[in-house]
Amino acid sequence: MELTGKTALVTGSTGGIGRETALLLASAGASVVVSGRDAERGARTVQSITEQGGRARFIAADLTDLDSLRGLAEAAGDVDILVNNAAVFPGAPTTDQDVASFDSTLATNIRAPYFLTAALVPAMIAKGAGSIVNISTMATRIGMPGLSVYSATKAALESLTRTWAAEFSPAGVRVNTVAPGPTRTDMVLSTMGEDGAAQVGKTTLLGRVAAPREIAEVVLFLASDRAAYITGATIAADAGRTAV
Ligand SMILES: NC(=O)c1ccc[n+]([C@@H]2O[C@H](COP(=O)([O-])OP(=O)(O)OC[C@H]3O[C@@H](n4cnc5c(N)ncnc54)[C@H](OP(=O)(O)O)[C@@H]3O)[C@@H](O)[C@H]2O)c1
Repeated sequence: MELTGKTALVTGSTGGIGRETALLLASAGASVVVSGRDAERGARTVQSITEQGGRARFIAADLTDLDSLRGLAEAAGDVDILVNNAAVFPGAPTTDQDVASFDSTLATNIRAPYFLTAALVPAMIAKGAGSIVNISTMATRIGMPGLSVYSATKAALESLTRTWAAEFSPAGVRVNTVAPGPTRTDMVLSTMGEDGAAQVGKTTLLGRVAAPREIAEVVLFLASDRAAYITGATIAADAGRTAV
């Protein structure tokens, strides 16, 4: 299996795209560190991985808390693949945005991947190999009302992808981003409902929302040696929504 012998840390793998990514990386042979705040949902991801014959353990962390983040980095140990997936999506028109939600969105979506990457990349550099995959969104390329803070944090993550590629890739560490379109996760269903999700799906060229697995497949590709010549890239997995 192509990821045998590798350790992968997937943030926000207690549900949604992160959970599917953890399952897929494990089925490709990686030993997966599942993380998030909810230990019960984390245990369910680990159980699904072990039931399919894979290896995984759960480490609880609240990524808005820098001590918790450092604890995660320490407990995860030597990591070959880091997927910066955890995020929050509070929607508000700019004129109604409250400062607390602004700050916590920046802390989760930007400060956390920044300092987690900074903590884990030195070991990758020392080994001369590693793959970091950041998860952004199609909303970095198209204006979507109510998503100002969210899309700005994700645009920053795409920028960090290029900076980190410049800093780390000469030492053998690849850094890329997957920018998903509307994907059928609990977060989407709870905020938009089935009908709302279907409506956003209809705005894509394929006319539907993605299954989380379809996004996870792109992450697996970028994490694997099949993407050995790709770094600093942002790959749209949005059914063409940002292509036209
Ligand atoms: N779904 C979509 O349509 C869509 C579209 C474009 C981009 N994306 C991106 O895809 C990624 C996953 O989205 P999703 O839809 O799968 O979301 P989701 O179902 O809401 O999952 C988000 C994950 O992040 C974790 N998380 C949130 N805050 C955290 C914190 N403070 N500390 C640690 N973990 C935290 C959650 O775990 P706990 O609750 O256990 O903490 C959960 O596992 C995100 O980066 C999102 O921006 C999603």
